[in-house]
Amino acid sequence: MADTTISQLDFEKFREFFYRKTGIQFEASKRYFVDKRLVERIELTDSSTFRNYFTKLRFEASGEELQHLTNLMTVNETYFFREEYQFQCLVKSILPDIVSRKTDKNPVRIWVMPSSSGEEPYSIALYLLEYWAGINDWDIEIIASDIDTKILAQARAGQYSARSVQQLPEMLLRKYFKRNANGHQICDDLRNAVEFTRVNLSERADTRAYRDFDVVFCRNLLIYFDDVSRKAAAETFYDAMKPGGYICLGHSESMSRVSSLYKVRKFPEAIVYQKPLEAK
Ligand SMILES: C[S@@+](CC[C@H](N)C(=O)[O-])C[C@H]1O[C@@H](n2cnc3c(N)ncnc32)[C@H](O)[C@@H]1O
Repeated sequence: MADTTISQLDFEKFREFFYRKTGIQFEASKRYFVDKRLVERIELTDSSTFRNYFTKLRFEASGEELQHLTNLMTVNETYFFREEYQFQCLVKSILPDIVSRKTDKNPVRIWVMPSSSGEEPYSIALYLLEYWAGINDWDIEIIASDIDTKILAQARAGQYSARSVQQLPEMLLRKYFKRNANGHQICDDLRNAVEFTRVNLSERADTRAYRDFDVVFCRNLLIYFDDVSRKAAAETFYDAMKPGGYICLGHSESMSRVSSLYKVRKFPEAIVYQKPLEAK
C-alpha cells in the first residue's frame, strides 16, 4: 500500500533540491502547498513512497517528472496591462532612447522572462502597435520565456478568461480579441508577434543562447527567489543584454538591493535599471 507521508526531513531535502534546480525558495510556511503537490505526483507515478519518488525525480535522465512537478509548483498569476506604467515607460522613454542610439537597422529585441500564460508579452506587442510612434520604422522581436511548459502551451493558444482581460480598455478588447464560448481569443497578428520558449532562468545551459536584448522584462519572479538566486539572475540578464539595455522589474522588486551591475534610471513613468553604456 502507498505511504505518502512526507516527513520534515523529506520536505527539507526536497526544498533544497528544488531550489538548486529552479532558484525557487519555499519557506516553511509553504509546507502544505508543497506536500499536496508531492503527494499528487507520488500517487500519479505509482511511486508508493516519497523516497522512491524523490529518487525518480533526481535520477530520471529525461527530466520529464521534474518538469511535471515544476509545472505544479509554479505560481502563474498574471493579467493584461499589469503594472501598465512600465509599458508607458517603454514607449515614451526606453524605446526612444534605444533607437536614438542605434547605428544599424537590426530589430529591437525584447525578452519577457517569465511570461507565464502570455498576458505580459502580448500586452507589450499590443502597446507598441497602439502607442509607439516608431512602430513603422523599426522591426521588433519579442521572445517570451518561462520554465513551465503547461503555461507556455496556454500562452501559445492565446485564449483568455474575462478576469485576464479586465484591465484592458473595451476598445482594445474589441480590436485585438474575438469573443468565443471559452472567453477571449487573441488575434493572430498578436499571436504571431511573440515567440514563446521554455527556459529555466536558473540553468546556465538554458540561458546561454539568449543574447543581445535591448529590453528585458523580469516582473514578479524574483519575489520567489532568495538573494543568491536573485544575484545569479541579475548576472544572467546582464550577459543577455546589450550595453545601454534596460531591465524592468515588478513593483515590489529592486535591482539595487541585489546587484551593483546596473544603473538606476528614473523616468517620469517608472524607475528601471540600465546596463551601463560602457559595459562590454
Ligand atoms: C507570477 S508569474 C509572473 C508573470 C508575469 N511576468 C507577470 O508579472 O505578470 C511567475 C512565473 O515565473 C515562472 N518561473 C518560476 N521559476 C522560474 C525559473 N527558474 N525560470 C523561468 N521561469 C520561472 C513561473 O512558471 C511563473 O509563470
